[in-house]
Amino acid sequence: MNLGENLNADAQELITGRTCILAQSGGGKSYGMGVICEELCRQGLGFAVIDTEGEYSSLKQKFDVVWVGNSKECDITLDKINFDDFSRKAMMSNMAVIFDVSDAMDLMSVVDKICSSLYRTASELKLPYLLIIEEADKFAPQRNGKVVGSLNEIARRGRKRGLGLLIASQRPAFVNKDVLSQCNNQFIGKLTIQNDLNAVRQFFNVREELLKLPDLNYEFFAMGSIVNGKDTLFKFKKRETKHGGLTPSIKAKKTKNLNEFLKEIKEHQIFEQISITPKISYETARKKAEKMLKKKFVLFGDNTEKISSVSIELTPVIEADIEVKRKNMLGKQVLKKYRVLFDAKSGSMMDYNFKHHLGTYELMEFDYTMYSLLKLLKKGDMSIDEINSRVNKNAEIAVKKLRDKKYISTRTEKRRNIYSLHYDEKFYRISDFEVKKNYQVKKIEVQEIVRPVYNTGDLNKIISCLEENFVIKNERMIYYPLYNISIKGETHRLVRINGVTGKIINT
Ligand SMILES: Nc1ncnc2c1ncn2[C@@H]1O[C@H](COP(=O)(O)OP(=O)(O)OP(=O)(O)O)[C@@H](O)[C@H]1O
Ligand SMILES: [Mg+2]
Repeated sequence: MNLGENLNADAQELITGRTCILAQSGGGKSYGMGVICEELCRQGLGFAVIDTEGEYSSLKQKFDVVWVGNSKECDITLDKINFDDFSRKAMMSNMAVIFDVSDAMDLMSVVDKICSSLYRTASELKLPYLLIIEEADKFAPQRNGKVVGSLNEIARRGRKRGLGLLIASQRPAFVNKDVLSQCNNQFIGKLTIQNDLNAVRQFFNVREELLKLPDLNYEFFAMGSIVNGKDTLFKFKKRETKHGGLTPSIKAKKTKNLNEFLKEIKEHQIFEQISITPKISYETARKKAEKMLKKKFVLFGDNTEKISSVSIELTPVIEADIEVKRKNMLGKQVLKKYRVLFDAKSGSMMDYNFKHHLGTYELMEFDYTMYSLLKLLKKGDMSIDEINSRVNKNAEIAVKKLRDKKYISTRTEKRRNIYSLHYDEKFYRISDFEVKKNYQVKKIEVQEIVRPVYNTGDLNKIISCLEENFVIKNERMIYYPLYNISIKGETHRLVRINGVTGKIINT
């Protein structure tokens, strides 16, 4: 396969071997990966690319590619995919797939799912297929962090199963040595950091090439059996599709072939998520709703309400363990632990019964100083001097922010500015959010799951109003079961029932 003016790469070796592309940021890795993907598409060779930056969708301008991701233009929703089923169909039909993980909530676990299901499927089917991973240092780090387990496995054993690996990284020094050393083919481009040069030293028999690396200009040394062992300096040829993501105005190509593939995938889609175990069955939920039906008889026929459907909705909730460091009265540091639940759809703290703490969403607007200041002003109006003497730092910035947001107001008294409180929500402490009960979770299949709106960053904002020294540990996304019961009478209405407590949810 032709990749550049003087470079023909062995397609078989690329598809089933292990190859790395290494160059510093802006060195042309993604551009080169794009050229490789175009070539694979042209030859009808199957591959899946894990796209961390959302850069690959432009392949759709010219080629049949399945775009899996969470934006609404995508062909398949990443959150809803049944990975094993999808991998099997993709491998059997040599499909080109982009897994756009650029906005995935739990990136590592999604990538692990993709890799492990491809590996399992490859072990079973033994069909040639290539897995392409951008930013390999993220998923297979040398230090500080865990290597995505399945990736290690693919690097070591993928070849026998027909599953090849192509990885890119800007920092070879940070890529896990076990994974990097498995790459028997290399494309090495511009590198200037000494540690990275040291990391690639093993690939060069002669040192001269190494000295040239800092001065390369979108050029790469190609090495290994992919070029029959002949080291070649080359530049990737011009891309046919645009480098970077798909701009909305560009019409993506969709052929009959691709449409059929998508149709089949969608028909078999299962939504399987880890959910808090529902304690209320469909039948119980239906019976509860039946009691709420309005009966109204008219002269001809009747207008009695009827249940038209019952479905379970899983709503995303972040469960997090929080560790707080505080000083006790003797000045000794103590560590306290809390477990909390955060409704990722509404941005509120909640408890196991889906009871929400009203007004916690608002905390995202504040920081620790601002919130302390609000609490202080609850005791009575104060001048800036009084405030400064009680809040230790940056009180003036906090005062200004709170005034701009109209949470406090000023008036002048005896030539002094006096501040008073306008905030009438409850003041929370972290212990108010603690959930004590341990509940069970299980995998359940549903018709629909709800996308999170808020993430751990937002939870972090909320907690940082309440505590100065804390860390969020072991956070995970679980889903809370709610029943949606649609009722048809003269008009349509929806009744929602908590799947754990059986209570009607008022909205
Ligand atoms: N062979 C090439 N010919 C022409 N332009 C190129 C070539 N390779 C890269 N470029 C240009 O250089 C820019 C940076 O390249 P690219 O996005 O591939 O970098 P990268 O190595 O993936 O960097 P990062 O690690 O930051 O993602 C691109 O915008 C692209 O237009
Ligand atoms: Mg890149």
